[in-house]
Amino acid sequence: MNSSDRLKLGIFMPSCRNLMALTTYKPDPEDWTFESNRRIAVAAENAGFDFIFPVSRWMGFGGECDFMGDSLETMTWASALLQATTTLEVYSTVHVPVFNPVVAAKMGATLDHMSGGRWGINIVSGWNKPEFDMMGIEMLPHEDRYQRTADFITCLKGLWTEEPGSFNFDSKYYKIQGGYSRPQPQRKPHPPIVNAGTSDDARELVTNLCDVCFICPMTWEDTSEITRDVKERAAKKGRDVKVVASVMCLWDEDPNWAEQERQKLIDGADHVAIKNWFDVLGVESGSFDHHTYEHFAFTGGGLPLMGTAQDIVDGFVKLSELGLDGILMTFLRYEQDTIRTGTELIPLLREAGLRN
Ligand SMILES: Cc1cc2nc3c(=O)[nH]c(=O)nc-3n(C[C@H](O)[C@H](O)[C@H](O)COP(=O)(O)O)c2cc1C
Repeated sequence: MNSSDRLKLGIFMPSCRNLMALTTYKPDPEDWTFESNRRIAVAAENAGFDFIFPVSRWMGFGGECDFMGDSLETMTWASALLQATTTLEVYSTVHVPVFNPVVAAKMGATLDHMSGGRWGINIVSGWNKPEFDMMGIEMLPHEDRYQRTADFITCLKGLWTEEPGSFNFDSKYYKIQGGYSRPQPQRKPHPPIVNAGTSDDARELVTNLCDVCFICPMTWEDTSEITRDVKERAAKKGRDVKVVASVMCLWDEDPNWAEQERQKLIDGADHVAIKNWFDVLGVESGSFDHHTYEHFAFTGGGLPLMGTAQDIVDGFVKLSELGLDGILMTFLRYEQDTIRTGTELIPLLREAGLRN
């Protein structure tokens, strides 16, 4: 996210089956495949996007739509997509309990070197208990989970920035002696570190240790409250943290089209998948308490923007005025809408002064 554009643009990529909405209405059901992700990444770079961002999953949520039943591992995914592109920033998402920080530091530095400093990391504490049960990993209580994530990030930063061989760390969760990881990343001080979560624990973590906070707000009020709060907490700590929101964008020349598509998504709501998703997420997360079944069927959790191209751009202007630094766009037809963002939205965003 190092461009000078006032509003950064990214894509929440379909790295898992049936993203983003939990519905059986899916115009391009095979968009999760690597070949499709590669085409979307190249189209994103050509369109002028700043970054792409995956979802990391280890097992799916079932239902007729087989929500996230297939998923691409995001370190290896990023490795290939960084090679397919030349300017785009590519993120990986790492579940703290699954990786040792020394391994993650080494993989991250490798991706940074392979790409000339275009890689970034989203570090998530995890909430999907069945995934951890499958691996025999104990799911900690929420607060402890975030303490471990804080330790993980401190280790990563130490390994990436301190004299190789000199980093020591000793906590309940990690013990590192003479931590050595070379090469260290080319990007200084280190690749951007993102956390995606908005519970109180997540807000503390992100404002203490991360560079960017990714959020999935359901309403304009949520967007405003979270953005203001994260910025204020960071400022009190003398830090600058960027806030980026996931936004489902549906637009067409026909102003009625988006509403018709919304109805199809909701009519196709996959109640089994939504229940499976919400049974775990609703219990284990502090970030999705207000989301409704209809909202999950329609946008998978992000803020909806609908109408014509101008309506989407007007929405982006409003989001920028609320203090957001970037948009993580989600689409109904990923490849097509990535290209259309370049031809239909970015020129209007330039006119609005949000893009150079
Ligand atoms: C934009 C965004 C992307 C996320 N990506 C992932 C992901 O790929 N894998 C995952 O397990 N959780 C992901 N999460 C979930 C969060 O990391 C977090 O665990 C969840 O929102 C619960 O919030 P809480 O930890 O603040 O209670 C994501 C959340 C957001 C907002």
